[in-house]
Amino acid sequence: MAMLVTAPASAGTTLGASAAEKGRYFGTAVAAHKLSDNTYVTILNREFTSVTAENEMKWDATEPSRGTFTFTNGDRIVNHARQRGMAVRGHALLWHAQQPGWAQSLSGSALRAAAMNHVTQVATYYRGKIHSWDVVNEAFADGSSGGRRDSNLQRTGNDWIEVAFRTARAADPNAKLCYNDYNTDGINAKSTGIYNMVRDFKARGVPIDCVGLQSHLSNSVPSDYQANIQRFADLGVDVQITELDISGSNQANVYASVTRACLAVSRCTGITVWGIRDSDSWRTGQNPLLFDGSGNKKPAYTSTLDALNGGGTTVPTTPPTTPPSTPPATTPPPTSGPGGCTATVSLDTWTDGFVATVTVTAGASAITSWRVTIPLPSGATVTNSWSATTTGTTGTTQWTNVSYNGTVAAGQSTGFGFQGTGTVTGLNPTCTAG
Ligand code: G3I
Repeated sequence: MAMLVTAPASAGTTLGASAAEKGRYFGTAVAAHKLSDNTYVTILNREFTSVTAENEMKWDATEPSRGTFTFTNGDRIVNHARQRGMAVRGHALLWHAQQPGWAQSLSGSALRAAAMNHVTQVATYYRGKIHSWDVVNEAFADGSSGGRRDSNLQRTGNDWIEVAFRTARAADPNAKLCYNDYNTDGINAKSTGIYNMVRDFKARGVPIDCVGLQSHLSNSVPSDYQANIQRFADLGVDVQITELDISGSNQANVYASVTRACLAVSRCTGITVWGIRDSDSWRTGQNPLLFDGSGNKKPAYTSTLDALNGGGTTVPTTPPTTPPSTPPATTPPPTSGPGGCTATVSLDTWTDGFVATVTVTAGASAITSWRVTIPLPSGATVTNSWSATTTGTTGTTQWTNVSYNGTVAAGQSTGFGFQGTGTVTGLNPTCTAG
């Protein structure tokens, strides 16, 4: 839906200030060796409220020899940030890439022990200084498998990720612990694999607080980007856009779309771009950032700032971001459905639109499939949905589980959601289990 919104009088004039008005941070990746570049530092200090070490906290940088830790360059970034009140994202404790040679040559229990010692030592060293840690980076496979990537870490046993999260929590109890990956921006097999892992972690009490969507994009953003953010948020974790860069001629519009999608989900807590100037980008020649090589603001900067301020250009791929005009409405206490499940709906509404978050709970027995019927009022139309399939978009809609969320243990819950246009004040779902 295209709409034109003018920025409010209180609009911020920098990315960081405008994001802060929306309760979010706006960050960038920083390279320590560029902190002596005056143009770079001027933009960094003016625009950004969070930093991520681009390479300086990775395993090869922090533990080049086994048991010998080097924090000099990481400290340069942390000190620069903390002296100016910026948050620090820690990146990344464990990753299959950028491992020191000595770790690459280990395997099995020796590698597992070395990896967890690395997590403990680095997270302990930076304890109290890190807003969020990317505890594990890029552990899922691309393509349709939805499973783990093969790596030396994965070959130590499938539980390596949860052990890493528990180890990180013990070392720094106050840092938010994130799983971070790429090609996970829309709803696809890879992001669904991660979704299932996070859901499992939450169910079993494995400490995870956030999911990072790297969002290295090329000229467009998936149409279900916001829905994907929302489905992770609905699991009870924050979502952070962690490495945003966008190539292509539609760049300004796509930056605005991404920004609006994050603002539309309350648990999307911040955006980090992966570098400051185009010349700082790892994507050589693609000019995917907000400032040109001379440090001038690009149209993408302006569209991002406008989006942060609640206005801006027409953006076809995301819904209006007007905050809810009424407090979220929750349906009355559920009544038991005929087949052993119940459903409740939580609604976020605005002038002519809504997001419905549906919770499906199994009764006294486990269920293997479910169908939820939700009558929509006249004029309401579903425009997109996640984690369920539907028979229609108006009138009496029927929602059926997808492959990964049909099985629900007795008394446990799963969920799906949808978004639409029109006025909705309350919804009454009924659930039938298979
Ligand atoms: O520092 C050395 C320098 O001494 C040497 O002369 C030069 C020769 O190639 O290499 C320099 O190191 C490079 C390093 O960046 C610092 O510039 C490495 O070769 C290069 O591989 C490394 O690239 C980094 C890349 O991760 C490695 O995988 C990029 O800067 C960094 O932006 C990129 O970041 C990753 C995230 O961590 C995870 N997600 C994807 C993202 C983009 O690839």
